Amino acid sequence: MNISESCYISDTYLAEQLALAGTESQALIERGGAVKYNTIGKTVHVRGLIELSNLCSKSCLYCGIRSGNSNVERYNLSDNEILDSVRFAYDNGYGSIALQAGELTDKRFIVRIDRLLRKIKQLSNNQIGITLSLGEQSFDTYRRWFESGAHRYLLRIETSNRELYKRLHPCDGFHDFDNRLKCLQNIKSIGYQTGTGVMIGLPFQSLSDLANDLLFMKNFGVDMVGMGPFVEHDDTPLNGISGVLPLRQRFELTLRMIALLRIIMPDINMVASTAMQTIDPMGREKAVMAGANIIMPNITPKMFRNRYMLYNNKPGVNEDVQDSLSFIEARLRQFDHSIGYEQWGDSLHFKLKRLKR
Ligand code: 5AD
Repeated sequence: MNISESCYISDTYLAEQLALAGTESQALIERGGAVKYNTIGKTVHVRGLIELSNLCSKSCLYCGIRSGNSNVERYNLSDNEILDSVRFAYDNGYGSIALQAGELTDKRFIVRIDRLLRKIKQLSNNQIGITLSLGEQSFDTYRRWFESGAHRYLLRIETSNRELYKRLHPCDGFHDFDNRLKCLQNIKSIGYQTGTGVMIGLPFQSLSDLANDLLFMKNFGVDMVGMGPFVEHDDTPLNGISGVLPLRQRFELTLRMIALLRIIMPDINMVASTAMQTIDPMGREKAVMAGANIIMPNITPKMFRNRYMLYNNKPGVNEDVQDSLSFIEARLRQFDHSIGYEQWGDSLHFKLKRLKR
């Protein structure tokens, strides 16, 4: 059956596809890649990732920079450090940057981001695209940042199963599935290119949960997706929990997730996540071959990188080579892909939606 042509996609069908192994799994992954070539081609767009700060008010049970982890040395980049990183991106052919940080919602933080957005637009002559990944904020904050120049926002739902969401977050009144959904709706209604995503291979997560994650993204009509394997972090409550898949299986499952999502949403932007590279040195390239079209090289000043450890063995902490565009380009060339220098690389899904209005 050609599932991309049908409006109805069953969760059981998707779960069966996620369970494929061996040559059948490989065939599915290759189909994901083929759908991508036929829809958006073989250009990979880059977002220079700047990890602004690891200060976080939340305490997600899986995350290494959770507020409850007292082993983390906290940092907050200065405006100059951030603007230097942006200048680096601008001078080196990046069409876009992504600003990510632990979650803060205080007035000072909101005003600071606003000011930075304006400065970034100014220093790049309005040229550089800006993605934000700064967690749950109020409608007014999202709107304010949009008006100041951000045009994409990435907020992973983490899992679309609300019971599982509850199990992965502390019961402290700060982690509410419905609020997260509301945030995504607000982001979309303001006019951002809206991105979400999930972790794959989480404790207590079934293939049926993942099938429903795919349907959630399809039904929500997201423009961009960043999803990757769950990888343990030593200093988190989920470390050492039994019943999770071996890392290699989480990796393969993620490739099938990427391929299936590409088949059911051919025109979205999809990130080849850094977590893939943690498990396999060629992880990002394999994700690209399965249907991903975005890479987010880390351009955070090197001395801070080992403090933004969301999970164990996060790559690129001690060297820039793996994240340099020339390195990525050479790797991609082996697979007949290229980099879209100095281009925003907007989601085709978003552009077509606009035209249909
Ligand atoms: N493994 C994989 N991904 C993680 N994230 C946080 N902790 C982990 C982990 N242990 C992801 C979450 C979050 C994004 C910034 O990083 O999905 O949204």
